[in-house]
Amino acid sequence: MLYALARALLFRLPPETAHRVTMRGLHAALAVPGVEALLRALTQAARPTEVFGLSFTNPVGLAAGFDKNVEHVAALAALGFGFVEVGSVTALPWPGNARPRLFRLPADRALINRMGLNNGGAEAAAARLTRRFPLPVFVNVAKTPDESLVGDAAVADYAATVARVAPLADAVVLNVSCPNADDGRTFEDPAALDDLLGATRPLCADTPLLVKVSPDLDRARLRDLVQLAVERGADGFTATNTTVQRDGLHTRAARLKAIGRGGLSGAPLHRRAVETVGAMRAWTDKPIVGVGGVDGPGTAQAFFDAGANLVQLYTGFVYGGPRVVRRIVRGLT
Ligand SMILES: Cc1cc2nc3c(=O)[nH]c(=O)nc-3n(C[C@H](O)[C@H](O)[C@H](O)COP(=O)(O)O)c2cc1C
Repeated sequence: MLYALARALLFRLPPETAHRVTMRGLHAALAVPGVEALLRALTQAARPTEVFGLSFTNPVGLAAGFDKNVEHVAALAALGFGFVEVGSVTALPWPGNARPRLFRLPADRALINRMGLNNGGAEAAAARLTRRFPLPVFVNVAKTPDESLVGDAAVADYAATVARVAPLADAVVLNVSCPNADDGRTFEDPAALDDLLGATRPLCADTPLLVKVSPDLDRARLRDLVQLAVERGADGFTATNTTVQRDGLHTRAARLKAIGRGGLSGAPLHRRAVETVGAMRAWTDKPIVGVGGVDGPGTAQAFFDAGANLVQLYTGFVYGGPRVVRRIVRGLT
């Protein structure tokens, strides 16, 4: 009820402003004595699990993109998440695309974003990662979207970030599937991924290294990518990133046209993402983090049934509010 009211107000604000206001409010509330304990009592749910040799109090995490600059991990831990993926972090600070770049599609319980990897860069992220956190923190790494960084320079850019954050992370996730940087998906090409893992796997030592894939790859290409990644030492996968597909939406065509390009997340992505996890499970027994349209116990369970070991959400948290994590954890079979 409370969140429904807060959401009605927040949804009157532009999405990025609402995000900022929410997180400021959460930090302010947590500074009041007793509030953190109260929030924990309302949101925590235990369902311990071990994946990648890490212990999780529950298998429901916050997906990349929500806390790009490692500013909110402790606050998010108080909302019941079992783990948080920060980033994407790029080697250099990056402003991202011009605003507006994030759009709500309430009729579809979805978002479209073309943020363009805005973040404060690897140095700033690393400085904040030196804190001790109460839950596993995955660090998502992307290439600085500077179009002059191609070939070996692009690999070196990723590697610089991985070298900086891997010793401070519980897991590193290579984002090779960002639809919002014009060159974002280059590393879905097997030869390029081969070079990328060759350069970054040795930098991770014991830190698990995951590859985050797109829901838009055709099956043969995805299979090649999974097999190559496993051969080159990847420890697991995250599936999926946002989609560029627009089929089956209830949002009016004129509105979609006005929004323009970007990655679609939330409910309309769910089936495609679950099918991607199911396909990948047939090719590898490495752990898979399922993400795309998780908004309750049923959508989370669908990922586990398809073979995922952990799940994450972003859009379902925006629409469902802070108690969604506990609802999911309690509803898993
Ligand atoms: C506003 C926004 C920003 C995002 N930024 C990133 C990012 O920086 N790196 C990344 O790997 N994924 C990013 N994502 C994708 C999410 O991590 C997730 O894969 C996708 O949204 C599907 O999950 P969902 O349906 O629960 O939102 C972003 C998603 C949204 C909505």
